[in-house]
Formats: sequence, C-alpha cells, structure tokens
Amino acid sequence: MTEQKPETLHIDPWEKRWIQISILMLIIFVLAVGASGFAFGFQVPLPEQRVDPARITDEGPFANPGLRELAPGRYEAYIVAQIWSFTPNEIRVPQGSTVTFYITSKDVQHGFTLQKTNVNVQVLPGYVSKLTHRFDTPGTYLFVCSEYCGAGHQSMFGRIIVEPR
Ligand code: CUA
Repeated sequence: MTEQKPETLHIDPWEKRWIQISILMLIIFVLAVGASGFAFGFQVPLPEQRVDPARITDEGPFANPGLRELAPGRYEAYIVAQIWSFTPNEIRVPQGSTVTFYITSKDVQHGFTLQKTNVNVQVLPGYVSKLTHRFDTPGTYLFVCSEYCGAGHQSMFGRIIVEPR
C-alpha cells in the first residue's frame, strides 16, 4: 500500500517567484510615491476650478492671460492652451520668483510640462490646472505640450525666462 500524501496547494516555482517579484515591485512603488510626495515636493495637479471653455476668452482671468504680480517675487501666470499654441508663449520673471500657474484649454486635451522642473499637468477644456514653482536658477525653461493633441502638437511650446538678479 502506498502512502497517501496530504493534498497541498501546488504553486509552480516560477509562478511563486513572479508573485514575490510583484509584491516587491508594489513595495518599491509605494516607497517611490512616498519619497516623491514628501522628499521631492510632488504636487497633485488638482483641477482648481471649472470654467466654460467656450467663454474663457470673453470673461474672467483667461480673457487676459499672462503674468500678474501679487507681491515682490510672487506671481500668478494665467495660460490658455489651444490648438496649437500657448497664450502667452513667453513669460519673464526675476530669479527667486514663485509662480503659480493656472492653465486651461480652449478646445481639446493638452499637456503642460516645464523642463528642468516637476511642473507637469494635463490641461483639459473646462478645468483649470494649478501648480506652483519657485525659480531659483536663472535661465530659459521650455514648456511643451505633453499630450498628443493633433497634427500641430509638436509645435506647441513656449518659454519661461528667469532673469538673474
Ligand atoms: Cu497640445 Cu499636444
């Protein structure tokens, strides 16, 4: 008579290894999100407010987009994205300025990614995206549309010029 082994859950060694790798990856991702949130100043680009994309150029702050000085070194920048450009497409601020960006779209989905910074938002018609950045290093910072928006997508860009004090 042969000995009856108790039935156990059989997991293929390779499957077991991949389960372990998946759990390890989850742990790495949780640590990465925590580190970016607390150590690198990651900002969740919450939709700040809703607007009517058909009327943004008629009324409100987007009717006259551009830079506004709130106090010395404190600015607000209202930017309108449309196929295939940003208005304004050039902004100048002195070194050390803190700029809060308010960005919306007049037509389709666009993106706003500011090189050399962690400013990177989706720009959707009907919503205002808001992010704040402090410019401590002088230079030219290119911003580009980072969401495919049609035939002229690659020509959607502008620059922020941070002038040395
Ligand atoms: Cu706008 Cu791509």
